[in-house]
Amino acid sequence: MTQHTLLRGPLFTCLDDPGEAITPAAGSTRYLEDGGIWIVDGQIHAVDPFATLADRIPPEAAIVDYRGKLMMPGFIDSHVHYVQLDVMASYGRQLLDWLNDYTFPAECRFADEAYAGAAAERFLDELLRTGTTTAQVFCSSHPVSVDRFFEASARRRLRMIAGKVLMDRNAPEELTDDTLGGVHDSERLIADWHGRDRLSYTLTPRFAPTSSREQLDAVGGVLRNAPDLHLQTHLSENRGEIAWVGELFPERRDYLDVYEYYGLVGPKSTFAHGVHLDADQHRRLAAQGANVAFCPTSNLFLGSGLMDRQACRDAGLATSLASDIGAGTSLSTFGSLQGAYQVGALLGQALTGWQGFYQATLGNARALRLDDRIGTLQPGREADIVVLDPDATPLLSHRLSRTETLAERLFALMMLGDDRTVAATWADGRCVHTRS
Ligand code: GUN
Ligand code: ZN
Repeated sequence: MTQHTLLRGPLFTCLDDPGEAITPAAGSTRYLEDGGIWIVDGQIHAVDPFATLADRIPPEAAIVDYRGKLMMPGFIDSHVHYVQLDVMASYGRQLLDWLNDYTFPAECRFADEAYAGAAAERFLDELLRTGTTTAQVFCSSHPVSVDRFFEASARRRLRMIAGKVLMDRNAPEELTDDTLGGVHDSERLIADWHGRDRLSYTLTPRFAPTSSREQLDAVGGVLRNAPDLHLQTHLSENRGEIAWVGELFPERRDYLDVYEYYGLVGPKSTFAHGVHLDADQHRRLAAQGANVAFCPTSNLFLGSGLMDRQACRDAGLATSLASDIGAGTSLSTFGSLQGAYQVGALLGQALTGWQGFYQATLGNARALRLDDRIGTLQPGREADIVVLDPDATPLLSHRLSRTETLAERLFALMMLGDDRTVAATWADGRCVHTRS
């Protein structure tokens, strides 16, 4: 039987990139004070003032009252490691030592199927609690870590992108693949999961130092034959890492060229970090339609550096916003936005509330080539929605009562929000989290 639901309350959505100015580009945003989102079988059917929808919905429609709250499209995290919740906030290392001392040992545990299953559930509980409904996810090297993650996501009817880490060198033996065996495992996972329910597969060579030329070449081959797959990896995060890539691949002109040479750079490729890229690398990534995942809390925590978002933008290079847990310090999109603001403030490019919420929703959907499905509150999109509570804490409520414009309100909400601000999360037209 067809299921009709109407969510009533204030709503905000971007329809296009609002730009970086204090005033959003004309037609790029939509706000309704007493709005309605009419959902039919998991899809958004109409978004209009409540009064006009109330006359149109069928009598059996369930009406959910979110007056006093603020509905937005569900948040999207373009780069996160579900297998690293256990190492968040591990003290005192930069990237390469952090990987060896904390992260690789933690990922070894994901050989255990039960451990992986429980970790996937914990991760998804936490994502939904923070209003994130879609993420591009690194699993571990163990195929079972991907099976359990996709299974848990499918059960909750979430739109998720994930893949098995590929590494065949420079990592502990328990985590390294046989060069082609790892690629064959990926092909098995693609056959089992890609395109099933709301799931997509992303090829996941960890980063250039942990894959041989042969493995990178084989991944490029898979991508050439199946260009609808995503690809995710890391690029130019840390100066020591960049120097190491130079030693491992002396024949390539720079770090990015390693990925270019093996055919890994395309419109569905995400390169995490990209902190230390020059103008030529920005231009090359832009020309190939790839995106760089901006991971501000991680870049600050590991001391990796300040990513110049404006330079990417000027080059026409899409950036997406990401938590990069476990190097990041917050799984919440609010944490990432606050980090993005702080990095921008240091670089003289302060993020507006408009641009911040655009980035977390439609901007990330576009970067991941999912904007025909998610990222806006519009007819035909999947009903993934976050319900924010401006009165979540006494201080937030007080501060928001002192705002006069929507611009001020969105900005203060962006800077002061956290997981407590998420009153409810909906995915595929169903409520999947309610704050207790
Ligand atoms: N580079 C290679 N692997 C990783 C990882 O797990 N986290 C981060 N932040 N950078 C990486
Ligand atoms: Zn990462």
